[in-house]
Amino acid sequence: MAVGIFDSGLGGLTIYEAVSKRLPDVPFVYYGDNAHAPYGVRTADDIFRLTCAGVERLWDEGCDLVVLACNTASAAALKRMQETWVPEGKRVLGVFVPLIEALTERQWGDNSPPREVAVKHVALFATPATVATRAFQRELAFRAIGVDVEAQPCGGLVDAIEQGDEILAEALVRSHVEALKRRMPKPEAGILGCTHYPLLQKTFQDALGPTVTVFSQAELVAESLADYLMRRPEFAGQGKVSKFLTTGDPLAVSDRATQFLRHQITFTAA
Ligand code: DGL
Repeated sequence: MAVGIFDSGLGGLTIYEAVSKRLPDVPFVYYGDNAHAPYGVRTADDIFRLTCAGVERLWDEGCDLVVLACNTASAAALKRMQETWVPEGKRVLGVFVPLIEALTERQWGDNSPPREVAVKHVALFATPATVATRAFQRELAFRAIGVDVEAQPCGGLVDAIEQGDEILAEALVRSHVEALKRRMPKPEAGILGCTHYPLLQKTFQDALGPTVTVFSQAELVAESLADYLMRRPEFAGQGKVSKFLTTGDPLAVSDRATQFLRHQITFTAA
């Protein structure tokens, strides 16, 4: 048994890096659906179907707990999965809530009414599908009042990352940040609401400027998973060896993963 980590492709590796550092004794099985990435331009039904297929593959690996290290799947499919599909004894968690709790200065499980928070202007960068769900704004409204969110659908960015084209990816980040700043010139916080984007965190930070605090999910999700496993240790699994599965070409995906993470990651066919 191990903890499963699911993403449409390479982005979830940013979460894997943080959770494996925070929980070095927990084995992980990573599943990247690179053959079908990007998810961010797909319909909600399509995202639901592909995500269920990936999670089922992780269950076959003995992962009773799966983290959707993908905002697009968390926003477009997770609720439907939890309500209609996840069987007794299995758990599927998303990556949205820990980020919003950090932004709204809340501890896990604090369900008190929404209140004013320090940050007032938030720039959200996410895939077109995530932006279309408005899931981020909905979750935020449960916890905070008076926060203005401007969302930028970052078309093309996941594709460029999946293809290993760093130059194009950096150019796209700069143009998406510029487009957002035309609508919200002075955000206080920038949210990288797609797990692929922290692979370009420095470019986002440079384009946004030093006064903007950039929130990315990896460490926040790692902390919240550590907390979850302390309360539910039966989901942690045994052994130490992590494993990386892809629906894409394992050699090409391993090369790109190694390029972005700057250490060797070896994928095998899912
Ligand atoms: N990395 C994913 C996310 O966090 C999915 C991106 C995509 O496949 O479009 O949204």
